[in-house]
Amino acid sequence: MDLYDVIINRRTIRKFSQKPLTYEMLKKYVNAARLAPSAANKQPLKYKIINEKDMVKKIINLVKWAAYIRPEGDPKQEEEPTAFIAIAADKNIKESGFEADLGAAAENIILSAEIDDVGSCWMGAIDYDKISEVLNFDSNLKLLCVIAMGYKAESPKEVLMNNGDVKYFKDEKGCLNVPKRSIDDVLL
Ligand SMILES: Cc1cc2nc3c(=O)[nH]c(=O)nc-3n(C[C@H](O)[C@H](O)[C@H](O)COP(=O)(O)O)c2cc1C
Repeated sequence: MDLYDVIINRRTIRKFSQKPLTYEMLKKYVNAARLAPSAANKQPLKYKIINEKDMVKKIINLVKWAAYIRPEGDPKQEEEPTAFIAIAADKNIKESGFEADLGAAAENIILSAEIDDVGSCWMGAIDYDKISEVLNFDSNLKLLCVIAMGYKAESPKEVLMNNGDVKYFKDEKGCLNVPKRSIDDVLL
C-alpha cells in the first residue's frame, strides 16, 4: 500500500488482539511524532510510552470509548489495547497553543503505526488529572491526549454520510460504519 492508501483506509480501532507491541515499535512511532511540523519549531510536545500490563490497565480505566454507541463500542477485556502513547505539552517550552502541533504529531504516530498494521484510537475523553497522576507527570507537563494502540481485531469501514448524520454505528454484521462527508461536500 502506498502512503495515500494507508491514509484513506485508516479507521479508528477500538478492538485489539492481545499480541504485544514492543517498546522499540512504540519508540519508532514517537520518533515519527518528534519530526512532525511544529509552529515556530518550538517542539513543545513530550511523549510517554505505556506498554507494561498493569499501567495499561490503569489507563484503560480512565478513558471513554465510542460515545455514540456506548457501551456497545467498548472493547471487551480480551480486545483491550496493549499500549498507549500519552502526549503532553511541556509548558516550560511553550505556555499555550499546542493544538496544531498535537494534530500533526498524533497523526504521525497513528499513520506510522498503521503502516505496521497497528491500529489506534486517539482519545480525548479521558480523565486528564488522574492519568497525569498515574504517569507521575511533573507540574510543567500538560496532558493533551492518549493514543490507544495494538494490533487490529476489527475492520471498521467508511460510509457516505447521510443527511449530515455524523454518528458512527454498528451494522447487522457488527462492523463499525463511520460516516464521512463526500468530496463534493467538503470542496469549496
Ligand atoms: C481529538 C480527538 C479525540 C477523540 N477522542 C476519542 C475518545 O475519547 N474516545 C474514542 O473512542 N474515540 C475518540 N476519537 C476518535 C473519533 O471518534 C474518530 O476519529 C471518529 O469517529 C472518526 O473515525 P475514524 O478515525 O475511523 O475516521 C477522537 C478523535 C479525535 C481526533
